[in-house]
Amino acid sequence: MSEETPEHSQTRIIAVANQKGGVGKTTTVINLGANLATSEKRTLVIDLDPQCNASSGLGFEPTEEPTLLEVLLEEADQPTILSFETIPGLDVITGSPDLVGAEKLLPQAGSDPLQAVNRMIQKLPNQENPYEYIFLDCPPSLGMLTLNAFSAATHLMIPVQAEYFALEGLTSIMESLQVAQARMNEDLNLYGILITMMDLRTNLSRQVEAEIRNHYGNKVFRTTIPRNVRLSEAPSHALPVTLYDFWSSGAKAYMELTKEILRNGS
Ligand SMILES: Nc1ncnc2c1ncn2[C@@H]1O[C@H](COP(=O)(O)OP(=O)(O)OP(=O)(O)O)[C@@H](O)[C@H]1O
Ligand SMILES: [Mg+2]
Repeated sequence: MSEETPEHSQTRIIAVANQKGGVGKTTTVINLGANLATSEKRTLVIDLDPQCNASSGLGFEPTEEPTLLEVLLEEADQPTILSFETIPGLDVITGSPDLVGAEKLLPQAGSDPLQAVNRMIQKLPNQENPYEYIFLDCPPSLGMLTLNAFSAATHLMIPVQAEYFALEGLTSIMESLQVAQARMNEDLNLYGILITMMDLRTNLSRQVEAEIRNHYGNKVFRTTIPRNVRLSEAPSHALPVTLYDFWSSGAKAYMELTKEILRNGS
């Protein structure tokens, strides 16, 4: 690797974002991240949410020192990188409750407040075997942390719940994507829209799916994620769903999504 080559230039950095809460962002980060690592793609999950659900869902207490906020404020040089022991190749930088202070404190720090996550990623130790995927689990808002994810990412993945107002929420985040591309990061690509929490017993889910596909065509992943109680139980056992209940419909769906991504070479 030449000295000019950025250390993580081959890495897909995927912001998983939607300003709407509870649409499956964290569930997607945990399960897609775990499956890609199982497929021997080195993967790092960065938990940018003060709720720290991605951290706790993988069994990590969000109490590591330095906290992620301290690293983003450049009060500490390097974050602590933890390994999920059951799946080699799955690493985590945990979130921290003090991230609620990011909104106020990042703009007060010296450097460009929207580049804090990018700076941290660029400074990660140079590994012989760099990450192929870095997932940024965003909080449900378009605040400082999500905008930082948009600045740092190469791709944006948008989980959307198959419910009545899905399209309206999508329009709003697609507008944010365009603004981010125009003002902050012209290299940010739409990775795809993922329809989550499909309820296959009702027509509504299928209608919403049809509408989303009608509007966004091939920007929507073929795979959809069903509503499945195993997906909501797995985090309390600190496990991705494939390790919690391999045969569940949720596990199958996230495996299918992983295959779709690997098949597309994306
Ligand atoms: N496909 C699914 N089937 C059933 N429950 C699900 C599914 N996906 C997510 N859940 C559950 O729904 C809740 C919200 O999911 P999740 O935390 O992934 O959403 P989020 O978008 O990250 O939320 P937030 O905006 O608060 O960060 C969680 O309790 C989760 O376990
Ligand atoms: Mg979340």
